[in-house]
Amino acid sequence: MSKYSGALKGKVVWLTGASSGLGEAFARRLIASGCVLALTARRAEALEALVEEYAAAGMTAISFPGDITDRDRMKEIANAIREQHGAIDILVANAGTHNPTSASAFNTDDYRRLIEINYLGQLHCIEAVLPHMIERGEGHLAVVSSVAGFRGLPTAAAYGASKSALSHFLESIRFDLEPKNIAVTAIHPGFIRTPLTDQNDFPMPFLMEAPAAADRMYQHIVERRLESHFPRRFTYIVKAFSLLPYALYRAVIKRVVLHERG
Ligand SMILES: NC(=O)c1ccc[n+]([C@@H]2O[C@H](COP(=O)([O-])OP(=O)(O)OC[C@H]3O[C@@H](n4cnc5c(N)ncnc54)[C@H](OP(=O)(O)O)[C@@H]3O)[C@@H](O)[C@H]2O)c1
Repeated sequence: MSKYSGALKGKVVWLTGASSGLGEAFARRLIASGCVLALTARRAEALEALVEEYAAAGMTAISFPGDITDRDRMKEIANAIREQHGAIDILVANAGTHNPTSASAFNTDDYRRLIEINYLGQLHCIEAVLPHMIERGEGHLAVVSSVAGFRGLPTAAAYGASKSALSHFLESIRFDLEPKNIAVTAIHPGFIRTPLTDQNDFPMPFLMEAPAAADRMYQHIVERRLESHFPRRFTYIVKAFSLLPYALYRAVIKRVVLHERG
């Protein structure tokens, strides 16, 4: 048991992308937190399995399957959670996806899809909770972006652009929301071992296991940090690269990333 066990006791948390990878590990991490957990993803069976794990531990989790690109469904889910549990204290907007792109086979559809899921889909969930948080004068948005959004990386034009938009959005809305007592935590993971990264065919430096990543994320959300990034050995390197003037950044990425990928 960590010092943060039970830290979210009685809080109502809505977690998206709970059926797999980082979200699934985070849902398991929350079992010891004492919260009431609402789970969303498209695969209902995977959510039901988590609901059963919660029940076995004497905790409450409820499954609300849905696609985050469906704006009305996200509002419907948020309303249902509020009807059953009074309010949503924390939104952990984690659902997202990636597919590598190459400008040599350019197709706007690849870009539209990632913007619709990773950016607009995340906004649909925020839209579904924010007016009520503002009304209550209390709330917390914890949103999973990526270090891939910091600067342009090879094969990540679509993914990086969607995550960059999301991180930019979070930085901006924080100015409006902090005075209203609504915390905004931007989550910037490096490489985490999940079904998503299992598809990568290149070396992933400092690859972190999902339960360890979920631990970091949990601690940072409990502390209501502005930013959560992990594994820090990797994310600090990416942050340092991001501060370089473009010509130098380009040279470093060509040498380090493209050389590694062969
Ligand atoms: N793994 C990494 O190294 C890494 C690094 C940086 C950032 N991230 C971010 O971390 C988040 C989780 O990624 P992961 O690695 O855990 O990937 P994952 O194992 O593929 O999990 C993605 C989750 O998002 C859900 N999802 C995807 N599209 C959805 C949609 N349209 N509507 C509802 N749910 C949807 C999936 O559920 P269903 O398929 O059941 O809908 C699944 O639960 C993503 O935002 C990703 O960009 C991951």
